[in-house]
Amino acid sequence: MSQTIAVLDFGSQYTQVIARRVRDLRVYSKIFPYATTARELKREGVQGIILSGGPASVLAKDAPLPDRSLFDLGIPILGICYGLQLIGSKLGGKVEQSLQREYGRGSLCISKKGSILCGIQDGIRVWNSHGDKLIEMPDGFQVFAETENSKYAVIGNEEKRIYGLQFHPEVSHTDDGSEILKNFLFSICNCVGDWTMAGFIESSVEKIRETVGQEYVILGLSGGVDSSVAAVLIHQAIGNQLRCVFIDNGLLRQNERAEVEKLFRESFEFDLRTVRAEQKFLNRLEGVTDPERKRKIIGKTFVEVFESQLKSMRGVTFLAQGTLYPDVIESVPIGGNPASLIKSHHNVGGLPKNMKLRLLEPLRQLFKDEVRQLGRELGLSAMVLDRHPFPGPGLAIRVIGEITEGRLEILRNADSILLEEIRKEGFYEKVWQAFAVFLPVRTVGVMGDERTYENVIALRVVESLDAMTVDWVRLPYDLLQKISTRIINEVPGVNRVCLDISSKPPSTIEWE
Ligand code: XMP
Repeated sequence: MSQTIAVLDFGSQYTQVIARRVRDLRVYSKIFPYATTARELKREGVQGIILSGGPASVLAKDAPLPDRSLFDLGIPILGICYGLQLIGSKLGGKVEQSLQREYGRGSLCISKKGSILCGIQDGIRVWNSHGDKLIEMPDGFQVFAETENSKYAVIGNEEKRIYGLQFHPEVSHTDDGSEILKNFLFSICNCVGDWTMAGFIESSVEKIRETVGQEYVILGLSGGVDSSVAAVLIHQAIGNQLRCVFIDNGLLRQNERAEVEKLFRESFEFDLRTVRAEQKFLNRLEGVTDPERKRKIIGKTFVEVFESQLKSMRGVTFLAQGTLYPDVIESVPIGGNPASLIKSHHNVGGLPKNMKLRLLEPLRQLFKDEVRQLGRELGLSAMVLDRHPFPGPGLAIRVIGEITEGRLEILRNADSILLEEIRKEGFYEKVWQAFAVFLPVRTVGVMGDERTYENVIALRVVESLDAMTVDWVRLPYDLLQKISTRIINEVPGVNRVCLDISSKPPSTIEWE
């Protein structure tokens, strides 16, 4: 196992960014809850500890505090923002509460470089976001740099290898932030920087082989990025001891099943079973219009179908899932800060708790962009890796109201035209999601000399970083016109196309 840097999470929205930056420097990082004990960190053999920022005040009664003996471990520590104030206040300095948070840039005036600022230019731009301020240093510490607003912007105790930065080195608005982190990792913590994706693949393959032995593994393949990458990695380790199941629930997009079969059965030579369960799902959804009921029915039916597949296979003892790192990080519920929000929905692919299977989750340590990189190294194409997110309940929540085969057919055709045109114009990779929605209303139109009374399709094309806040994409008028004309001309049953121009919040991405 590579050397590990622990990032203690005090609730900053940048905690994951810190962990990513460290990994970019080829050092493995892991986020721990802020209250993790010194003993535990020592047991983990961590090479250094970073105390993240956070929205709280160290002076508040309920301030999140680290285990005090962290500072006696002899392991190097870097406190960022709130982390610096913790170092200050816990080691005998003084922190002053300020009523206003200070945001924005400052320039760093370096008085002494020491090991933390070695090679850093005087006057670099740094990015601040803090409330309280250190006003008196703890014993044994010295100042390395100040900014306009803070006398103690960089402090440290070289002997104890404990440092604090008042600003955020992990954000791109700080010049040379990576260089400062590099100094901490390589000069101060003596890391070697040997964490690479190729190394990750090698050690994962070995570990999967060792864990699985001669047993069999089942994996529910959805065709999405996470399950596909997990499947290819596991397949590389144990070949056809991996049994993949792809369930066609009748709510997939145009040609989706055929594409998954072609890729995984033919190119990757998986032992892939596709289960045609369209009728089962559609029968149960008959007459159902409430979105949450749709979700429940689909979730339950999925589990049932999956379980019956499992029963028909002998010797399967592991269930593989494409769980990612952000899904497993315990977040800190402090003061309604956005980083501590946990997404509650999804996981129609989530499986029953009473299955007596051991879990195999080879992506548990990776961030989403690392999963894509891993997928690329494993030979998956951009077609799979750059796919837009697709909800577990599929088209069921894009046919508004009652779901019928006829409506699904119309939606599939309209959706594939939208995607084809968006890809052609190079927008697919630029947007977060693009899809069509079937509306259960009929409107009057005229085609040739005849009056029509047909359905409406809405187009939803959004940009976002994380699906939490979203804006609609200003597609060129010419492109919109082409999409609209093609849908109305080519999809029987549609005589009107609308564009959804709502942001999230207050709307959501999906219509149901
Ligand atoms: P909303 O509609 O809440 O969607 O703005 C945010 C993201 O989540 C996806 N989504 C789902 N994914 N099961 C899923 O697996 C669901 O029930 C579900 N509902 C929404 C949506 O496509 C978007 O990416």
